[in-house]
Amino acid sequence: MPHRHLIAANWKMNGLKDHIPVARAIAEGSRDFHARVALFPPATLLPRLADALAGTQVILGGQDCHHADSGPFTGDISAAMLKDAGASMILLGHSERRHGHLEPCALVAKKAVAALKAGLEPIICIGETLDQRQQGLTRQVLTRQLTDSLPDDLNGARFHVSYEPVWAIGTGLIATDAQILEAFALIREFLNRRFRIQHEPQLLYGGSVNGSNAATLLALEGVSGALVGGASLKAETFLPIIAAAHTAPV
Ligand code: PGA
Repeated sequence: MPHRHLIAANWKMNGLKDHIPVARAIAEGSRDFHARVALFPPATLLPRLADALAGTQVILGGQDCHHADSGPFTGDISAAMLKDAGASMILLGHSERRHGHLEPCALVAKKAVAALKAGLEPIICIGETLDQRQQGLTRQVLTRQLTDSLPDDLNGARFHVSYEPVWAIGTGLIATDAQILEAFALIREFLNRRFRIQHEPQLLYGGSVNGSNAATLLALEGVSGALVGGASLKAETFLPIIAAAHTAPV
């Protein structure tokens, strides 16, 4: 098991330059906590945050990338560009990309290869929809997403997986402990079977994580982090999650 929980803030399409003090407050407020803190701001803020957070323990990451290094892809950003802008991690396959932009697993896998090549540590997101859960397809969906979104190149590499039930994202609904434990056991077993693990992947849960539910969540067997959307936009709501990680067993 990793020694510290990874608490990741997914700012999604939120944040102008007046949000930089929030990042500073997160860095300042989490300084003494035993946790890895990562911020995934919109790409436009990465260079500014890289400056603003220089010398702090906060890790920066991109929210998505194109699978090519460079080329005629108007509006896209490559993994190398994110790295150049200050990122060292990247979110891939978030449900808002899979469902909002119809990204198939095979594309997520290509992006993961590009991310590794650029020296970024990927967090690959998977999760079932409510419909799929109600039809009893959760295990099947998660296994397919893991099989097809995680490229062989991850063998021996540093990467992480975030389980985010689509129905729990931004809804205030959180999966039950039993649902989380079942999904995490499946993921852990899959990773051990498929990959030669050199750096223990951190397994994150995402979907309506907040200061009230974080302590219980992070104490669950096998949960080594959280990917936080709404509650990560303000230091007052994000710091209690980092504080919960500080006291949770790893
Ligand atoms: P939420 O988002 O915390 O607002 O539910 C989580 C995510 O989408 O990563």
